[in-house]
Amino acid sequence: MNNTTSPKPPHVIIVGAGVAGLLLAILLKRANITFDIYERARTVKPLASVKHLAEGGVQIQCDDNTSYTGDILVGADGAYSSVRQSIYKDLSEQDKLPFSDSQGLKIGYINMVGTTDPLDEETYPALKDNFTHFNFIIGNGKPYTWSTFTVPGKKICWGAQIQLKATTSEDRTFKNAEWGPEGNEAMIKDIYNFATPYGPLGQFIDKTPRERISKVFLEEKMFETWHNGRVVLIGDGNMLPSAGQGAVNAMQDAVILANCLYDIANNPTSDNITAAFQDFKDQRYPHVKHQFDLSKTMAKVIYGQTWSERLLRRIVFGYLPKSVLHKDTIKAAAYRPQCVFLPLTPNYGTHQPLPQKPSKRYTEEQAI
Ligand SMILES: *[C@@H]1O[C@H](CO)[C@@H](O)[C@H](O)[C@H]1NC(C)=O
Ligand SMILES: *[C@@H]1O[C@H](CO)[C@@H](O)[C@H](O)[C@H]1NC(C)=O
Ligand SMILES: *[C@@H]1O[C@H](CO)[C@@H](O)[C@H](O)[C@H]1NC(C)=O
Repeated sequence: MNNTTSPKPPHVIIVGAGVAGLLLAILLKRANITFDIYERARTVKPLASVKHLAEGGVQIQCDDNTSYTGDILVGADGAYSSVRQSIYKDLSEQDKLPFSDSQGLKIGYINMVGTTDPLDEETYPALKDNFTHFNFIIGNGKPYTWSTFTVPGKKICWGAQIQLKATTSEDRTFKNAEWGPEGNEAMIKDIYNFATPYGPLGQFIDKTPRERISKVFLEEKMFETWHNGRVVLIGDGNMLPSAGQGAVNAMQDAVILANCLYDIANNPTSDNITAAFQDFKDQRYPHVKHQFDLSKTMAKVIYGQTWSERLLRRIVFGYLPKSVLHKDTIKAAAYRPQCVFLPLTPNYGTHQPLPQKPSKRYTEEQAI
């Protein structure tokens, strides 16, 4: 927490020290807005240090017993985040929950991740250099994907994702992000013999202490509810786990929310807070929607099991020129928002970033 002189900015409670929550905290500090962060996990565990960074924000949710004192509450946007669920409860009671948000999830993913203890580099020569060697494998015949990454410390980070269709993902057992070790064992058995260029995936599972294997549920759904009253949701919800978009979107959420809060930081009324949350949603929605649609298409290509989806998979991964595949990457990379209340960094890229909505307050302050 930090101290500020008058005028009094809102005090922000952040629930969840995932990538979105921590980045928001760093940015609020720059904006001289005070905050507290609540985190359920008691220790930091190196669960999966590479691409599964994206899943941290969904995994971390607050303890329902926590009591908050603050002007603004920021929670995780995952389907089963307790903050989202508490908003839903309020909205349902007032008959204001958007219809699509009241519907169950059609598709979800189980994502299991772990990082091994240090391994012998003679057995795994890929560990000898300073590069990350990664393999991403698409199951043929089952909607599964799995991957391995070499990471610093002579370790291998591994992960496996299972796509669930409506019938299974509706099952209540999938709605809890934290399952007992029994659930893990069943999935480990399922994925143990999956082939990797090093041999079966199981050799890495065996080298990973069980308490460092984590399993999370990820939804594929674009939510309409982003905020209610003094509560707003940010994070990596609704992105395909293997597309690597989750962490990026979580950080973009944090940047844009910080921008919106900065502009109302002088004694905000509740109307100002609502307006800031709406501004946050308006700025983020088109980009999230674009990523979500892309992510959904990619999921069809990767996990699809129908004849035509398999054919599409062969074409996309076998024959499409890289330039076509890179087109969307370049388009997505043009969106790289910055904090508009800090001096902007120059563009180092080969493509121009998209323009951003300037901060009214910052512009005024700079003019003085
Ligand atoms: C949280 O609340 C539940 C139900 O009210 C209770 O059973 C549990 O002991 C509480 N946990 C803590 C840490 O206070
Ligand atoms: C890897 O990086 C470390 C630290 O920068 C360096 O000391 C080492 O020589 C590098 N190893 C190789 C194989 O490049
Ligand atoms: C805050 O809301 C009040 C009305 O409730 C309005 O007059 C004022 O301009 C708003 N401030 C900002 C920074 O939007």
